[in-house]
Amino acid sequence: MFEHRPVRPERRPVDERDSLLANRADWDRYADEYQATHGEFLGDDGFLWGPEGVREDHVGALGDVTGKDVLELGCGAGQCSRWVLARGGRPVGLDVSMRQLQHSRRIDLEHDVRVPVVCAGAAAIPFADDAFDVVFSAFGALQFIADADALVGEMARVTRAGGRLAFSVTHPTRWMFQDDPGEGGLLANQSYWDRTPYVEVDDETGETSYVEHHRTLGDWVRALSTHGYRIVDLVEPEWPADHDRVWGGWSRTRGRLTPGTALYVADLAQ
Ligand SMILES: C[S@@+](CC[C@H](N)C(=O)[O-])C[C@H]1O[C@@H](n2cnc3c(N)ncnc32)[C@H](O)[C@@H]1O
Repeated sequence: MFEHRPVRPERRPVDERDSLLANRADWDRYADEYQATHGEFLGDDGFLWGPEGVREDHVGALGDVTGKDVLELGCGAGQCSRWVLARGGRPVGLDVSMRQLQHSRRIDLEHDVRVPVVCAGAAAIPFADDAFDVVFSAFGALQFIADADALVGEMARVTRAGGRLAFSVTHPTRWMFQDDPGEGGLLANQSYWDRTPYVEVDDETGETSYVEHHRTLGDWVRALSTHGYRIVDLVEPEWPADHDRVWGGWSRTRGRLTPGTALYVADLAQ
């Protein structure tokens, strides 16, 4: 069972190395509870873009993956990559948490399939240049990486000319609000432009135990265009009328008023 250690939320600078170390340990601790809580909603070979319940079957952000080499960053238990596999693609999952990848293997064994995975941080992708046709991430690694510009450069490096990138992150406007699924999460009292990372500090040890990095909408647009991407779409899923699931700070209360997820779709220049 996930040990809920008392933590103190803060905003303060954290570099790439400390972000990786904190988040790796956190996801290793949290993985069992995460899969127990969300595994059924995710679906063993389901492709969920965010807590609103929007799925790739409806969005089509990746395009046709048949016969394509597809890299998933922050794959968790590989549900999205398994979706790619079932549609004739050749997925590879990358995740910083070995425990998440053990869950991926468990699900593979239950269904007699195999999604190749690698345990690594996404800031330095351990693949050759031009190795993939498609790179994607569904609330995976991107908001855990300190240097977004360098990360987009890394994603471009491993993508073949004309390849597709699609990633979902917390909608940048959410950073103005408290992370509260109730009415308390409707009051904007934090600067949208404050890029200082959100940090949880272990009360007992004083160590950084979790980090998320914030980029504005414009930061992502700038990073994508700098590295040769042409933005095809920015999907901002609306909260569905029949959806009542609360996931962290995502809920109907907030979702009917403000976007919770931003899904960027972009193509690398030919
Ligand atoms: C919210 S989960 C999303 C996973 C999957 N898409 C899902 O919906 O379950 C975020 C994942 O990103 C991984 N992650 C965090 N930091 C990372 C990093 N620097 N590099 C690669 N993966 C990372 C975590 O281990 C976790 O599995």
